[in-house]
Amino acid sequence: MERHFNTKEELRAYLNFHSSEKSVGFVPTMGALHQGHISLLKRAFAENDLVVSSIFVNPTQFNNQEDLINYPSTLENDLKLIREISKDIVVFTPSVQEMYQENVQSKNYDFEGIDLHLEGLDRPGHFDGVGTIVEELLRIVSPDKAYFGEKDFQQLLIVKSLVKQLQLPIEIISCPIVRESNGLAMSSRNSRLTETQRDRAVFIYDSLVLAIELAKNHSPQQLKELIENRFAKEGDFDLKYFEIACVDNFIPVTEFIKNKHYRFLIAVVFHDVRLIDNIGYTHLEIN
Ligand code: PAJ
Repeated sequence: MERHFNTKEELRAYLNFHSSEKSVGFVPTMGALHQGHISLLKRAFAENDLVVSSIFVNPTQFNNQEDLINYPSTLENDLKLIREISKDIVVFTPSVQEMYQENVQSKNYDFEGIDLHLEGLDRPGHFDGVGTIVEELLRIVSPDKAYFGEKDFQQLLIVKSLVKQLQLPIEIISCPIVRESNGLAMSSRNSRLTETQRDRAVFIYDSLVLAIELAKNHSPQQLKELIENRFAKEGDFDLKYFEIACVDNFIPVTEFIKNKHYRFLIAVVFHDVRLIDNIGYTHLEIN
């Protein structure tokens, strides 16, 4: 039976018929799938009776047209990778017209301040675009659980805030970052780098690890300066931000408080490709 749909109507018809009394897991993606996406799909498949995955490059979340135009698209291979997990996974690949009709615009959301820093500051309008498409997809699929990666940690918090505000009865499941063997966080955008460049891009993850190692006896401000100086010495990396945020409210911090949980987050443009990464840290010592 066909489990690949391009229209909301066909997908809804299939789900209405097949999902009653079944738990539904949903994995939204923009395609160019890699092992990070696959880990979300496998987890959804293990935890639900029926899994839906969408592949849709959402134009309203791109504040940079060039980034949108250059976004990789590998639909045939994506479908193959999904079918390797299970032939039963339902795949939704709508067009821009299908999702937005004539009005390719974001809605405006109040994300309780989570959107005011980091990605939100560096990519104006990005999270309104993410909110718009995620709300629409969640309403169409109406899953019990939806799966998001910690790779996009701020997005994960935005989606949790969205679901809470809209009072959608959906559990948001956060999944750990999948990395290449050298530590580089997997990303669809990595395919725009050569192998040598991908080896070199490990500098981003290494910087996060270094910051964690030094966090015991350095303040957030000192760590910020240290990482900024480290990047300033490298001509090929354009550091967009390095921030340390408290995971409760996602506001960048100036001091560590004992036993609190933090995220160290970084965004870098490397050979015209925008890469992000992050790592968790719990402050156990008093300086
Ligand atoms: P995309 O970048 O395709 O990512 C889809 C999901 O895969 C997101 O939840 C993302 O955090 C997760 N992911 C990506 N790389 C990962 C990695 N290395 N390890 C673990 N998870 C990873 O994020 C989006 O698409 C879009 O913004 C979307 C939510 C689909 C809305 O358009």
